[in-house]
Amino acid sequence: MGYIIADDIDNADLIIFNTCAVRENAHDRVFGNVGALKHKKAKNKDLKIIISGCLTQQRDVAEKLKKTFPFIDLVIGTNQLNSLSALLEQNSRGVVIGDAGEEIAEDIPTIRDSKYKANISIMYGCDNYCTYCIVPYVRGRERSRPASAIIKELKDFYSDGCREFLLLGQNVNSYGKTNGESFSELLKMIDVIDGEFIVNFMTSHPKDCTKELIDTIANSTKISRHLHLPVQSGSNRILKLMNRGYTREQYIELCEYAKEQISGLSLTTDIIVGFPGEEYDDFKETLALMEQLKFDSAYTFIYSKRPGTKAATFPDYISDEQKGIWFRELLDVQSKIGDAALKKYIGKTVRVFCSENGRSNSNLLSGKSSNNLIVDFARADKACANEEKIGKFANVKVTSALKWALIGEEIL
Ligand code: 5AD
Ligand code: SF4
Repeated sequence: MGYIIADDIDNADLIIFNTCAVRENAHDRVFGNVGALKHKKAKNKDLKIIISGCLTQQRDVAEKLKKTFPFIDLVIGTNQLNSLSALLEQNSRGVVIGDAGEEIAEDIPTIRDSKYKANISIMYGCDNYCTYCIVPYVRGRERSRPASAIIKELKDFYSDGCREFLLLGQNVNSYGKTNGESFSELLKMIDVIDGEFIVNFMTSHPKDCTKELIDTIANSTKISRHLHLPVQSGSNRILKLMNRGYTREQYIELCEYAKEQISGLSLTTDIIVGFPGEEYDDFKETLALMEQLKFDSAYTFIYSKRPGTKAATFPDYISDEQKGIWFRELLDVQSKIGDAALKKYIGKTVRVFCSENGRSNSNLLSGKSSNNLIVDFARADKACANEEKIGKFANVKVTSALKWALIGEEIL
């Protein structure tokens, strides 16, 4: 439509505020941040403010936002991306929410923040209905994009210089269930595309993650040796209440198989603490599972009640304070495991795709290893500029490990 990205929010004539609904604090922050936009509207009477996303796909929240902040022009749901240009042209106002399961148009132009990295959606929606999760309600039923469209997008970005891709979906292992394709076939098709590049994907669901998929990763050259496999809890009783569809034993077997097959595998997970009905014995099973599997890292969350989900109706006897104590215990355990996991790389050489200046120190360069770890490193040729290395692969000898990254030196 001819719009361009403003260099500063104060110079913008259109602000689109995209929201998340997964946990309550994202919800609370939206109300705080949107309130702060009011004075911008007072300064620029042509300014249009649009709130979009998962939070506003919930009609009651959308209506409440519009009522609380009358200066908002338009509140739209998750799938109005298709009609955004028409809504802008018609100067639409109010609340416009469609069916969360609508098809997303294939021909929407994209602008990426990085020349070298691209996220590619491969499927939308989720049919799993984990009892704590709002996603199936706000993103609709699972639907997969055609493999040919995904491959074309990836090849086009490769031609433009992109070398690191992230395939996205709520449950990528379900890719293809609605259109006769399969995730491991998709990875195989991508792996044979010419050129050197690296492909990450998330998120996998343990109940749909097959040994065939693990074998595909093990036999590939371009698929990242990283599996993000959210376990959520180590207790079978809680996994059942969460409707996760696997047991602790099945999860462990899958991870052990993946570790055996995929050399250099990095295994990460998500964990929820304080699910309604969880007791200390259940929590201890989660800790024991972490000690056994030694995740490279874990995203940990305190359970957040999402109105409309099944778990929101479950009795919950544990206080927030107690959940906070368990949460800190979990962080301590994972922090030691994660530190030890990263230290194991010291002295080893890893292949890194370099995509930007260093995160820990701007004299260094930064990129991702072939198992998706952040690596900051010094150039071998001190005479050449950092920029000459960005967008290329390098071999890096790891010299030390921070909490969140490996540090090393390029070797030629
Ligand atoms: N409360 C806390 N964590 C949640 N997640 C999803 N829903 C909730 C909730 N209601 C976490 C899960 C999921 C990650 C993306 O967010 O761990 O894997
Ligand atoms: Fe939510 Fe993921 Fe479960 Fe789907 S699979 S309901 S997105 S936690």
